[in-house]
Amino acid sequence: MVRQDCGSCHGLRLTGGLGPPLTRDVMAAQPLDSLVSVIFNGRPGTPMPGWKSMISEGDAVWIARQLQAGFPAEPSASQAAR
Ligand code: HEC
Repeated sequence: MVRQDCGSCHGLRLTGGLGPPLTRDVMAAQPLDSLVSVIFNGRPGTPMPGWKSMISEGDAVWIARQLQAGFPAEPSASQAAR
């Protein structure tokens, strides 16, 4: 779901598109709270939509954590860690 819906703007590998990249390096540099708030409420004045009609706040926290941990299938990052 994240890959499809978020990927339409952030790029299929979340490396950026219409929206900024959501890669681990970028996400880990930001506080969890503010990521959750952007995902849940959107960012007014930009194309980034809020997702509160589709997901719970818990889901938004989960997504933010996943992004900070590095989205699964971000091949170069996970291989470099070995
Ligand atoms: C309609 C296009 C669109 C979709 C769909 C979309 N985004 Fe975004 N998103 C944006 C744009 C544009 C921005 C940049 C807003 C700004 O200028 O601050 C953004 C910003 C963000 C940010 C803040 C990034 C930063 O570095 O400040 C996060 C986190 C984010 N989006 C997560 C998501 C997630 C998770 C999804 C899927 C649930 C999603 N977005 C779906 C367009 C989109």
